[in-house]
Amino acid sequence: MAKEFIEKLVKEMTIEEKLAQMTQLSPDFFDTDESVDLTGPAKEMNIDTDCIKNVGSTLNAFGAEKLIKMQEKYLKENPHKIPLIFMADVIHGYKTIFPIPLAMGCSFNPDACKKAAEVAAKESSAAGIHLTFAPMADLVRDPRWGRVMESPGEDPYLNSLMTAAAVKGFQGEDLKENGKIAACVKHFAGYGAPEGGRDYNTVDISTGMLYEFYLPAYKAAVDVGVKMVMTSFNILDRIPSTANKKLVREILREKWGFDGVVISDFNSVGETLIHGVSENGEEAAAKCIEAGVDIEMMSTCYINFAKKLIEEGKLPMELVDEAVTRILELKDELGLFENPYKDANPEKEKELLLCKEHREAARDVAAQSIVLLKNDGVLPLKKGLKVGIAGPFATSRNVLGGWAGKDIENVVSLYEGISSKIPGTMIKTAMTSELGAMQEGIFDVEDRVDEACEQLADCDVIIAAVGESPSDVGEGASKAYLRLSPNQEKMIFELKKLGKPVIVVVFSGRPMEIKPVLGHADALVQAWFLGTESGNAIADVLFGDYNPSGRLSMSFPQTVGQIPVYYNCYGTGRPSDGTLQRYVSRYLDCPNEPLFCFGYGLSYSNFVYSGFKVEKDGEKIIASVSIENNSDIPGKETVQLYIRDVASSVVRPLKELKGFQQIWLEGGESKTVSFEITKDMLKFWNYDLEYVFEPGEFDIMIGRNSEDVMVERIKI
Ligand code: NOJ
Repeated sequence: MAKEFIEKLVKEMTIEEKLAQMTQLSPDFFDTDESVDLTGPAKEMNIDTDCIKNVGSTLNAFGAEKLIKMQEKYLKENPHKIPLIFMADVIHGYKTIFPIPLAMGCSFNPDACKKAAEVAAKESSAAGIHLTFAPMADLVRDPRWGRVMESPGEDPYLNSLMTAAAVKGFQGEDLKENGKIAACVKHFAGYGAPEGGRDYNTVDISTGMLYEFYLPAYKAAVDVGVKMVMTSFNILDRIPSTANKKLVREILREKWGFDGVVISDFNSVGETLIHGVSENGEEAAAKCIEAGVDIEMMSTCYINFAKKLIEEGKLPMELVDEAVTRILELKDELGLFENPYKDANPEKEKELLLCKEHREAARDVAAQSIVLLKNDGVLPLKKGLKVGIAGPFATSRNVLGGWAGKDIENVVSLYEGISSKIPGTMIKTAMTSELGAMQEGIFDVEDRVDEACEQLADCDVIIAAVGESPSDVGEGASKAYLRLSPNQEKMIFELKKLGKPVIVVVFSGRPMEIKPVLGHADALVQAWFLGTESGNAIADVLFGDYNPSGRLSMSFPQTVGQIPVYYNCYGTGRPSDGTLQRYVSRYLDCPNEPLFCFGYGLSYSNFVYSGFKVEKDGEKIIASVSIENNSDIPGKETVQLYIRDVASSVVRPLKELKGFQQIWLEGGESKTVSFEITKDMLKFWNYDLEYVFEPGEFDIMIGRNSEDVMVERIKI
């Protein structure tokens, strides 16, 4: 029925109407009065305003009341009564904001990611949104790139699990259901690898590297039925992704069987001209439609030039019909033909946004995302101590991170979180003025260090709440320096001289260069940008109501000069053994290893690993290890399985995460954790791009992080 209905509709539509469906414009074209946050040129679109009534979708308009009105007005004018689809960047929450995705990656818990997506879907769907431009599955290795905050991290396996979980959380089983929205995995492909970490810059990844590291997480989204894929701004092997037929039509559609909608990124069809692969709008339209990109976001090459291409026989009409069919199918799957408003509802919106249940979920996920990087025994804090909090994030509520709106009044600051843990106790604060945005030329906070030292001199413990401004992370926010600003570092150095324990809490959207302050910190807590419940979650960890369990989803560099530094690198012919040899692959002035590696994170419990073995059990190969909680604090441990293919037809990574299990251990409790080593885990993309298993020797590794592992070599 749906199929026939859509076929009939496509037959009835004119070319102009079809090309308008394939165009996405910002809400200001649909006659709304509110301005929206756009990330590129908006007004200079040069289109015939008459076509607006057929434009198929809009982006980043919010609020049930407004979207209902917009849809009503649109449907009155649209000749076929095809509803508009409302898409938006709902990245880590709609109003109840969850941690940034990089932080959620550190939970190593796909269910946490799924929960965050479910809550975001419920809230945004009540607010009239039909589709989110999330999850971002781009694998990242360079913390200079501001968008690492939107990625689950540096590992293809973890990224795949997190991405798939997010898709399931947004979409559920049936898109027509209330509280479900379609997901759009992005940015296909390799957007996370810009040279030098500079956003939008050249990407140059070998095909093997692309298949091995960068593609799996997008593929994982496709495998669980993601409805939309967004192409990236970058080039891949010299062709912009948006015009890249090999990437979109061959890999995504033909090899992976993706039959959903592909959308460009913001103006990325138009930008093929600037890249220099299209001479004019006509060529851009031809290339991108041929590549398989169905919707052109915020540029107008399709609508202005594709008709001429079809009339001149330069573009097959079938390609346009296929694209329009996919777009209409998506609208149909969302149930928009029956109910163009879906579950947009101002009453429900009020009830759901920031409701208690959603805030509780956000607090739980935030606590799971925090990573304890150092603890010389000062944490957890005992109640009854006189606490001082200093630094730009001491009292700030500006801790939502990118893509999270600007409503910070509902956020729990660190000060508020700590206050509610120790009600009635006086908490002193100092040097609390907020960090400004680098975009506005502000690079540091005012030096009030002497005053801070005086103010906090009589405290029993000092928390230094430092980091980078949330405006300095996200799109268009690349940085060449990753140290804390000079006055923040100075503040930590001087506070430490007071002779009191100093706990450094870092708020950031990327791994920063924290080595200079590490020696001055008795404990260091990586708190990322945790969203609405930030202060409560951090206080839960500081006071031991939540025993920290986060593990790094991205390596922390010793220094910027070491970047990219990541654990799953290829072996070299001259590996360093850590000694001062000359002609090996190492730096003269810095270790090869990161400051904190992938998978690293401390707990208040003391987990002891022993009895690691790899055994054959009939046909099966089982790796197992026993873990004891050698403390009286119950806690969660993430047991990690890594594998190395010792010799094969192409060079393989030195370690690859192939599995992990989270276990809960009461004080004194022990458990055995086992993993079955399957042939699937040992497969890889060979030189001819076949996914193969080659028998031979493999190192099987189990450990608490990517460096601290036990190894057994086996032959399979
Ligand atoms: C550009 C960004 O790259 C993309 O992630 C986002 O979804 C679009 N703008 C729409 O806002």
